Amino acid sequence: MSAVRIAPSILAADLGRLGDEVRAAEAAGADWIHVDVMDGHFVPNITFGPAVAAAVRRATELPVDVHLMIERPDAFLEAFADAGAHVITVHQETCPHLHRTLERIRELGVRPGVTVNPATPVDTLADVVPLVDLILIMSVNPGFGGQAFIPGSLDRIRRVGALVASHGRAGVEVEVDGGVDAGNARALVEAGTTVLVAGSAVFRHPDGVSAGVQALRDAAAGH
Ligand code: DX5
Ligand code: ZN
Repeated sequence: MSAVRIAPSILAADLGRLGDEVRAAEAAGADWIHVDVMDGHFVPNITFGPAVAAAVRRATELPVDVHLMIERPDAFLEAFADAGAHVITVHQETCPHLHRTLERIRELGVRPGVTVNPATPVDTLADVVPLVDLILIMSVNPGFGGQAFIPGSLDRIRRVGALVASHGRAGVEVEVDGGVDAGNARALVEAGTTVLVAGSAVFRHPDGVSAGVQALRDAAAGH
């Protein structure tokens, strides 16, 4: 099993020092930088647009992992592609033409990802597995950092792993987002997670960003 990727979420960073926070995560050995885009409609919070994704891109060599929690994401795909996104993940719940949306992301030269809220059955993704490079399992209801991990998410991760395997697409990343910390990282990896998103556990770690990334890395490896 290859090492799990760690994707710190800038939602929990000190936004007045965004560039420094991103560089600290990179120096600590993070693999991706996760950018949470919220519109105040699909989720009850507002965060960043393409300009912030582009600022992250300029601050780091790491791939920028864009998580769109917005209604009508199709209207913004090109702007996030231009901002330098490596992955764009859309919510199944926001996409009546999900197949078209995922194809469009790939046409833009970006890796397509799809995600589902905790109440949406993962089986609803079965027919788009051939189109995606990443499936994200939300382990909290999206909108805010610092929420408690929903335990049933572990079984959902296992089911996504089986879905991906049944399509012969073992290379699809299985990402988990929400309430991830050193206490659950090992179980998440054992369930099949390949990318751990973590906001609070990295940027709000009492001993700093470097300690936060290292603690996750050690826990994920079973140390
Ligand atoms: C939640 C966001 C998450 C959030 C995770 O809606 O999608 O990426 O930043 O934050 P923590 O790790 O603090 O739960
Ligand atoms: Zn996220």
